[in-house]
Amino acid sequence: MTTEINGDTRDTLMAAARTAAGGAYAPYSNFHVGAALLLGDGTVVTGANVENASYGLSLCAETVAIAGILAKGDRPQLQAVAVTGGAPGAAGQGPQVTPCGRCRQVINEIAQLGGTDPVVWCDGAEGVLETRLSELLPYAFGPANLG
Ligand code: THU
Repeated sequence: MTTEINGDTRDTLMAAARTAAGGAYAPYSNFHVGAALLLGDGTVVTGANVENASYGLSLCAETVAIAGILAKGDRPQLQAVAVTGGAPGAAGQGPQVTPCGRCRQVINEIAQLGGTDPVVWCDGAEGVLETRLSELLPYAFGPANLG
């Protein structure tokens, strides 16, 4: 299911993602990422990246946000995702930040559960790239594929 979403919603969600980036714990990469997710009931859930001294254990902003939703037992309709990132205090001022491959798969899990193909907005100095999960992760494997 796809939903049309207006520009005000995009701006509001991106502002929430930028605020969330301020909470990042990213002392190793110094790249602060914020993600904001719009759910079917209008709720906005945010996350920021959380790194680890064992670098490979770091968690991306999108994954942190989605883990929080699913761990509460919620199975919402995910309508939209906004992602931003950059140097501390400068989110959105560099190249567009698209969700990493692992995050695409994590987003797909919650999207399939709720039966949506969320809009994904990627912040950057050249403007916000608007795409859809199905474009970022075509032929995705998810819960539906397990039969
Ligand atoms: N990062 C995210 O939080 N989300 C993404 O989709 C891309 C990468 C984080 C991981 C790491 O903490 C930092 O950005 C640099 O890669």
